[in-house]
Amino acid sequence: DKAQQDALKKAAGIEAAKLIEPGMIAGLGTGSTVRFFVDELGRRVQEEGLTFTGVTTSVRTKEQAEGYGITIVDVDDVDHIDVTVDGADEVDKDFNGIKGGGAALLWEKIVATNSSKIVWIVDESKVVDTIGAFPLPVEVIPFGAGHVVKLFESKGYKPVLRLDADGQAVRTDEKNYVVDLHLERIEHPEELAQDLITTVGVVEHGLFLNMVNTVIVGDPNGPRILTN
Ligand code: A5P
Repeated sequence: DKAQQDALKKAAGIEAAKLIEPGMIAGLGTGSTVRFFVDELGRRVQEEGLTFTGVTTSVRTKEQAEGYGITIVDVDDVDHIDVTVDGADEVDKDFNGIKGGGAALLWEKIVATNSSKIVWIVDESKVVDTIGAFPLPVEVIPFGAGHVVKLFESKGYKPVLRLDADGQAVRTDEKNYVVDLHLERIEHPEELAQDLITTVGVVEHGLFLNMVNTVIVGDPNGPRILTN
């Protein structure tokens, strides 16, 4: 149930917070699992006097972190990021995964690309044999988005424009749309990534391939730390 899943997410978040050392520049991801991670960092800042600099992947995470007095700087104001901790929607045994369920994939990928080390925190339900059951988020420029959706339909990608509760198109922090591809199984993620990123109008996609160093899995028997 949700309470148990939250407990696993929280355990993974607390474990990941141990990786942040004084003086580091840390990338802070987005999502409900990362929220627990940032809560724990906030506790360490306030109770233990931890000082570090954060780079955030969404407006939401920035607001949460600054609420704890964590120093947040722009990604362009740092020359490196020591470690980024983020959530994921699915991850396979090779540490390839899907992100963007929370619509933050673009900034998440930019921060990840500039990080020396990438750690994902997930509960065990996110660990899969083959990715794709979770609809793959693709960030698309609003201008001409209807044509991108039609193109995806013609390729059998089963695209759905993401809407909010009021039926309005969801906008990312960059004011773009998100199109979710209901692929069920992604057998050739590299080829798909190449096809998506070369489609005019696509800004970024939620396939994160060959990027992650460590996955911390919230497990009823205690967090499992997987390294690649
Ligand atoms: C945000 O766009 C996503 O990539 C999140 O990191 C991902 O959806 C994980 O979120 P949860 O921890 O809430 O499942």
